[in-house]
Amino acid sequence: MEIIESGQAAGEFVLRSGKRRVLVPTMGALHKGHLELIRLARTAAGPDGGVAVSIFVNPLQFEPGSDFDRYPRPQSVDEELCRSAGVDALFRPGAQEMYFHDQSVTVEEHALANTLCGKSRPGHFRGVCTVVTKLFHLVVPHAAVFGEKDFQQLAIIRRMVRDLNFPIEIIGAPTVREADGLACSSRNQYLSEDERRQAPVLRAALLAAREAAKTSPRAADSLVNEVRARISSAPLAQIDYVELVDADNLQPEKTVTDNSLFAVAVRFGHTRLIDNIRLA
Ligand code: PAF
Repeated sequence: MEIIESGQAAGEFVLRSGKRRVLVPTMGALHKGHLELIRLARTAAGPDGGVAVSIFVNPLQFEPGSDFDRYPRPQSVDEELCRSAGVDALFRPGAQEMYFHDQSVTVEEHALANTLCGKSRPGHFRGVCTVVTKLFHLVVPHAAVFGEKDFQQLAIIRRMVRDLNFPIEIIGAPTVREADGLACSSRNQYLSEDERRQAPVLRAALLAAREAAKTSPRAADSLVNEVRARISSAPLAQIDYVELVDADNLQPEKTVTDNSLFAVAVRFGHTRLIDNIRLA
């Protein structure tokens, strides 16, 4: 596995690689969800293609007072995981490599980013779009893989790629879960024992909503209230949002449709977890 730590080395890698490249952008602290993204990237790359993983904890997408400083950075464990997953190139730039001290250009999406996590994390998706644009320019992938747990992020990146004409295929990967239903996330390791025990309530509440929506045509309000009540039954859960939205435009819906997506964000102590489910 080739380890690339500068923009210049990334450019040289692109020039000599000459084969189909599939990128898995990450912030490290890799878990089995990331390994599934890498597996899908390998399939998408084909027998002659290569898989590149980027690891960069992007300061631009952390709002002030959030967990940027304590975000886990297990460098050698991540490196070993990439190696054993058969990754061809690990792109691991430093912050000075990625951002000039007087950087003044960013990339922003103005419709999908205004709902859900965009409301509670102002500037977050500007940071994501900016860094993903930079990674796309540096690694020049033919395709890139993103997880569906971050459904809003995936939708925004698809829109960005469409609107800015990036010649890159975006591949969405189904959410990988722990045995009790909790969606895999690098942030799960922040949870205390009690919080970890209660966190699967997100998945349980979303599955119950999907079942309830099947039995009778439902108004969004009553379904949202049921999900809120179920999540609130976990004493340590503090709801950020529970919303039923249209999966294409992420705008709130009044009734369940074939395109409905239930999305939730819930804090357990200092840890903010997100999850979602399609209702159809
Ligand atoms: O999903 C993530 O890990 C990050 O938001 C991403 C896409 C790597 C951009 O920093």
